[in-house]
Formats: sequence, structure tokens, C-alpha cells
Amino acid sequence: MSERYVISIDQGTTSTRCIVFDHRGQLVSVDQREHAQHFPRPGWVEHDAMEIWRNVEKVVPRALSRAGIDASQIAAIGIANQRETTVVWDRRTGIPVAPAIVWQDTRTDALVEELSRTPGAGEVQRRCGLPLTTYFTGPKLRWLLDHTPGLRERAERGDVLFGTMESWLIWKLTGEHLTDVTNASRTMLMDLSTLDWHRDSLDFFGIPPAVLPEIRSSAGVFGTLRTVLPGVRLAAALGDQQAALFGQTCFTPGEAKCTYGTGSFLLLNTGHGPVRSQHGLLTTVGYRIEGQPAVYALEGSIAITGSLVQWFRDGLGIISTAPEIETLARTVEDNGGCYIVPAFSGLFAPHWRSEARGVIVGLTSYITKGHLARAVLEATGWQTREVVDAMNADSGLMLRTLKVDGGMTSDNLLMQFLADVLDVPVVRPMVAETVSLGAAYAAGLAVGYWPDLEGLRRNWHRAAQWLPDVDPQWRKTEYDNWQRAVERTFGWIQ
Ligand code: G3P
Repeated sequence: MSERYVISIDQGTTSTRCIVFDHRGQLVSVDQREHAQHFPRPGWVEHDAMEIWRNVEKVVPRALSRAGIDASQIAAIGIANQRETTVVWDRRTGIPVAPAIVWQDTRTDALVEELSRTPGAGEVQRRCGLPLTTYFTGPKLRWLLDHTPGLRERAERGDVLFGTMESWLIWKLTGEHLTDVTNASRTMLMDLSTLDWHRDSLDFFGIPPAVLPEIRSSAGVFGTLRTVLPGVRLAAALGDQQAALFGQTCFTPGEAKCTYGTGSFLLLNTGHGPVRSQHGLLTTVGYRIEGQPAVYALEGSIAITGSLVQWFRDGLGIISTAPEIETLARTVEDNGGCYIVPAFSGLFAPHWRSEARGVIVGLTSYITKGHLARAVLEATGWQTREVVDAMNADSGLMLRTLKVDGGMTSDNLLMQFLADVLDVPVVRPMVAETVSLGAAYAAGLAVGYWPDLEGLRRNWHRAAQWLPDVDPQWRKTEYDNWQRAVERTFGWIQ
């Protein structure tokens, strides 16, 4: 019998890719396509869900042909996706009724402010484990219902369907209207303890229940593909950051990973009970394997990390490719006293300050573009430190090592800086595509391609490690300076 594989679709903020994995969890082939980012007004970020769907139709067959395999060799397919991004489409035609509102979009600022003063706001937040901010899906869906002519009536009649990206793709691929617990846990509409939509939360946001998908486990058969690879089982869906937790095999409470992409997301496995954060972290579902209790996580979400490097490249034009930032940063010894806090759309964890805006402080005529490059990279390190401090305080445990993945982890200067400011070893696995790997693992587990979590854990191999190597006094002084810089971002929008 010919060898069998598992494939995953990673539908991310900037691109969609398909990766074929073999039984050892090794990457066999990949195909990827970027989609357009639309910024129609300041603070607005939109995607065209149809463009994303067409990209899925292209990348999947191309990844298979690059691997030299056909659909009969695919044991299962899994989806990982950018979370919170909100789509509504016509049930009959399958056409989206409006552009998808992306997780970074802040158009719901005034709505969120108004909702936070509405009776029941505290209870809604406690029930879903999330603060009321523009980041999550509930306010975005409410905004669409309020601002798309006739949409509320169509929603109440059940003529339109709502979903985040996995739901949109599951529907296009299988015809089923489903989501998984990890994605549902980002909507503000789900009760974290029952793992079901909650009537009072729906009423609070004014969401008609008829538009909602059914919530399923993350690893379990969602359906069979009717198109693209007809007959193949779709057996997993997870938010991309939860997929990375799974791909990094953080299956034991206390294990954590941080994925460095457009933004960065640190997730700590907290086991079978939700831990409520007292320090600005999110309580979220890590994953659920069908037939087993859910595993929860604490999350520190950082909105701007890789996208700060992109801004340095495209907005300022100081470098022409992202990897050049490391070369430029190495032209100087240190940051020269300069700090950049990228509060471009407010600050996420642990501050949750939507009115904050970015600052560059400590400028003198001594500062060169090399110092700025260093300050750009260091911003990612210090934002991670703030999240790790919150995590340690919430969990009562001290993080002992940080597993990292994502595009920015190829920057050695940044990885060393991270180990230095966190004062723990930073480790990167052999397969750095942990988001895709996690979705593949969950799908493979659901159909028996991999037998158990222990088997997956044995596939994890360390590729690189960075150890702390700085004077504690330097760390303390620099962190104090960073925190003073952060304070200067607060209250900018009045
Ligand atoms: O919550 C947003 C997150 O899921 C986005 O991840 O990697 O697509 O930027 P990414």
C-alpha cells in the first residue's frame, strides 16, 4: 500500500497555505498564497473571504502535486485559522454579504465603549473569559448586523450564516455549518464552562441564534470534503495559536509556547479547568479531543510584533526585506537609549488599552537607523516579558523554558534578546511550522493516523536553544525604561 499523509490548511492573517506531513510529522511539501489586506479607513482592516476561499482551492492541489501524491493517500485534513476575523454569508448563494472584518480592526471602538457601560457587561466577560475589546468577534458581528442594510432581518430569518474563518472554510468544503471550541471561545458568545453558546451573551450583543454554527471538538470528524479533495475527511479545526500549542506538544499543564508572527501569542496549558486571569491575560480553550474533556489555556496576546518589522520595511522604507533588520541591528552595540512601543491599535495583553498609541522615546542626535532597528526587535522581547510576568503571577508558577515558533524565530539576535530579558532558555523545534503541524496532528489523531499524544510528543525535536547571558542589573534597568516608555502611550486618543 502506498504511504499515507495528513495535510493541513493554515488560513492566516496575511496568507493561506497547505502543508503535507508524513507520519513522523515531517514537512513533505507546501504551497502558499497571500491575500490582499484592505484598509478602507483608519483602523479598519478587511479581507475578501471569497479571495481566501479561491486561495484554498489553489494551494491544496498544488501542495499535493509538489509532494507527488493524490487524494487517495490523504488520511485526513485539518484547518488552523486566524481567529476572531468575522464573515457573514448568504446560506443559499454562499456569497459573503460584506468584507470580512479582521481581528486587528478597531471600528467597533465606540460600540465597545457603549457596551461596556451596558448592564450585564461584567457577567458576559466573566462567562467567556475575555475583556470587552474590539479584538473579539461579538462586537464585529454586531457591527455587521447594525451597518449592513437588511442584514438583521435576514439573520433573524436564518437566511445568512456567521462564522470565523474555519467555519467559512468548513462550510465551503463540506457544506456543514460548524465551528470548534477554540474558535468559539474567541467570540465572547460562548460559556467557557458549558462550551456552548449562552443565551444571555447573545442577547447582550444582539445576535440572533439562527446565524450561529454548531460548536464541535477541535479534533474530531467535521465532515467529508465535497470539493477540492472529494471524499477526504476533514478531521480538525483549531484557532492558529491553539494549533501551535498542539503542534509544540504542550499537552501538560504548565507547558507554554509563543508564536511570533504578525502579532505574538503566548499560550500556557492550564489543564481541564479554566483559570481566570487577574493580570490581563485571556482565558481560552486550548483544544478539545472528541470524547475527552477540554483543555484550557491562559493567553497573552500581543497585537504588533512582526508587523512592526513590516512597518519598518514598508512604512518607513529603512530596510527592503524583513531579515535585514537583524543585520542593521547588529551594526550597533545597543539601543542607544531608544525604545519603540508599537501601540498601533492600542495595547493588547496585559494592558488592554485601546486608546494607547505608539511612541518612540529617547531620541537624541546620536540615534541611527541601527538603534531604531534594535528598538524594533527589542519591543517584541519586552512585550513578551510583560506577558510572561502576568502568566507567572496568574498561574503561581515560574515559566522554566519557552518554546517558540513562527517567522521571527529565525532572527538570532531577537531570540538571544528574548532569553536575556525573560531569564529562561528559549527553544525552537525542528519543525517550525507548528500551526500547520498542530492542525495536522489533531486531524491525524481524530482518524487514528497517530495513536495518542505520547506518539506526537516523541516527534518533537529541539533545533536551537538560546540561554540567558546578561547582567541582572542591565535587565532591570532596561525593563524599567521599557515600562516608562509604555506609560507614555496611555491616553493618547481622548
Ligand atoms: O488572534 C489572531 C491570531 O489568530 C492571528 O494569527 O498568525 O494569522 O497573524 P496570525
